[in-house]
Amino acid sequence: MIPPTFTEIIRRRRSVRRFRPDTVPRALLRELLELSMEAPSSWNFQSRSVVAVCDPAAREALSHAANGQRQPREAPVTLVFLAETGRWREDLTEVYESARARRAWDEEFLRATATHGIDFQRDLEERGLGREYAIKDATIAATHAMLAASAAGLATSAMNGWNETEVLKVIGADHRDDLAVALLLSVGFPAEEPSHPGRLPLDRLAFGDRYGETL
Ligand SMILES: Cc1cc2nc3c(=O)[nH]c(=O)nc-3n(C[C@H](O)[C@H](O)[C@H](O)COP(=O)(O)O)c2cc1C
Repeated sequence: MIPPTFTEIIRRRRSVRRFRPDTVPRALLRELLELSMEAPSSWNFQSRSVVAVCDPAAREALSHAANGQRQPREAPVTLVFLAETGRWREDLTEVYESARARRAWDEEFLRATATHGIDFQRDLEERGLGREYAIKDATIAATHAMLAASAAGLATSAMNGWNETEVLKVIGADHRDDLAVALLLSVGFPAEEPSHPGRLPLDRLAFGDRYGETL
């Protein structure tokens, strides 16, 4: 059975769009970001990063970039999750050495990651899929942050509606064509308690063995 404390964290989370002005303590924010980066990633290449925007003027600019949505303006921090589409081209020695030092990967797995992993990424890029794959890594990290925030009694608002160029400008990364914005996540203390909007019946969303078959 999934522990009730964990199910509670998942079930209690709601998208909140009104925030109190109280700041999120820096230590809690760092803990949140650390747990977010505990998320798995393809080949452990960690093709994602996050910028925590706390500065009021920058948050105002993020609201503008997010089609005027008030959450970045109101919430004390908005996390900008980024897809690092060029991570696989970087020197990944640290990734390999860390796995070796922790005895997480044996030599064969290390070699396979350093060769097949890189070939896999190159092939993705050639097929125009590099961005899509890095966005998966970033989105999973954002989900971790969302649930960690929920566990800490913080509210979140995920946002897809924004202008990417403008968001990149706010975080000082508009010169980087290897970065893509995956998701904005405003975080803070809630000033509203929205009701659960409900979900489609499980049999419409989850299947057993074959698409459409009831589990
Ligand atoms: C990827 C993603 C993008 C979203 N974008 C927005 C957004 O731009 N603005 C907004 O107000 N809510 C946004 N939402 C929140 C959804 O509307 C919300 O998750 C949904 O209505 C279900 O409500 P719940 O989160 O309370 O369960 C987004 C949610 C997700 C997961």
